[in-house]
Amino acid sequence: MTTANARTMKFGGYHRRRSVREDTELTHVGPGTPGGEYLRRFWHPIALSSELGELPLAIRILDEELVLFRDGGGRVGLLHLRCSHRNTSLEYGFIQQHGIRCCYHGWHYDVDGTILETPGEPPRSRIKDKLCHGAYPTREYGGLVFAYMGPPEETPEFPVYDSWVHPEGNRLVPYKIHNPCNWLQSHENGADPIHTCFLHARGNELQFSEQYTALPTLSFFETPIGLLSLGTRRWDDYLWVRASDVILPNAAQFGLAEVASEEKFALCAWVSRWIVPIDNTNAYAIGLRHFNPVIDPHGTGDAEAIGLGKVDFPGQVAAPSHEEGQRNPGDFEAQVAQGPVTVHANETRGVTDEGVIMTRRQIRKGIRAVKRGQPLDWPSRAGGDLLPTYNIELVSRVPRKPGADDDATVRRFGRRVAEIVIESGGLPPGARQETAKSRIDAMIAAEFS
Ligand code: FES
Ligand SMILES: [Fe+2]
Repeated sequence: MTTANARTMKFGGYHRRRSVREDTELTHVGPGTPGGEYLRRFWHPIALSSELGELPLAIRILDEELVLFRDGGGRVGLLHLRCSHRNTSLEYGFIQQHGIRCCYHGWHYDVDGTILETPGEPPRSRIKDKLCHGAYPTREYGGLVFAYMGPPEETPEFPVYDSWVHPEGNRLVPYKIHNPCNWLQSHENGADPIHTCFLHARGNELQFSEQYTALPTLSFFETPIGLLSLGTRRWDDYLWVRASDVILPNAAQFGLAEVASEEKFALCAWVSRWIVPIDNTNAYAIGLRHFNPVIDPHGTGDAEAIGLGKVDFPGQVAAPSHEEGQRNPGDFEAQVAQGPVTVHANETRGVTDEGVIMTRRQIRKGIRAVKRGQPLDWPSRAGGDLLPTYNIELVSRVPRKPGADDDATVRRFGRRVAEIVIESGGLPPGARQETAKSRIDAMIAAEFS
């Protein structure tokens, strides 16, 4: 029996043995693993600021046990969970004005890992001068706590996305959801625009607007921060470009509030979302939902439905029951059901998976660069500039032309929009939006009317 025969044999389940070999280079996240080392070169959101209360929070991130707390001075500490003395969990520590004190023998740690006191030891003890407890730097933004868990000498600038501050008055609402599967399969969802037509629209309950039932034309473009994942659809007289940022290594931005039957130009985001590994088989989907009238002109968002374990769009958490999940599966069911760590060797990828393939290729390239000790190809925004991002929701009135190949029109339209948006990345927010809009308007007038 040749392999080819076995693969095409009807009732040939016996011959189709599934591989159990994970793509560990991409999926494993612990200290010292290639993927884990790569991910440790970036800032990641790890918790909601609102989770920090009177008691320390034990958390696992990138397969490391950690304790997170806000001390009496308001500073956030992220320390190795186990006390440097004899390993008691600092989850049971007492938060101090400065840092945290272990419950067992009173060792006192500052947020940078400095051992301030070893009170049971004799005064002449030099332990605290010879040792620092494991600690990581943190930053808070938009109600999220971010951490950098890589080598201190390689700490990157904290990237503030332009979409967080544009348009003026944009309001950010944070959320955090537990996904019980490997981080990469959840992250790849952002580079997979075709699923929106099937999982969210056809053959399922309509989870967003009816325009999602239209089959999108797909295209993918590299950007300085990752890739732009485009689904362009025809809906009557309108063309709708839904272009999502897939941002290295584990972030994405996308839109949701579109109805695609009225004109819209939103070079900004509905949500910025990271998939942050807890360990190899669990991750947090942590995000900032954006509230502004440009991305959501009809005010469909619901800030009250966003927070710990919840967000205001369907399918992001487990359905209320297994049966309901089977009847109306969402992103959560689809991703978790790929398995704890989906095995790439068992996939049969088609042309619609190009975004997933590009995402893996970009991440693998970064992993190997770190392994070789090379710097990552990442745009520097020295001086605290905003990081340009590329998410766009565009709906334009472009009626079909009699006799013309409309599929080709749809494809070309998406490509031209993406080119203009990516080229606009060098302009400051505000001016950037105006320039991109006038260029797209001129392009439509010249090429599509
Ligand atoms: S185990 Fe923490 S002070 Fe002894
Ligand atoms: Fe989805």
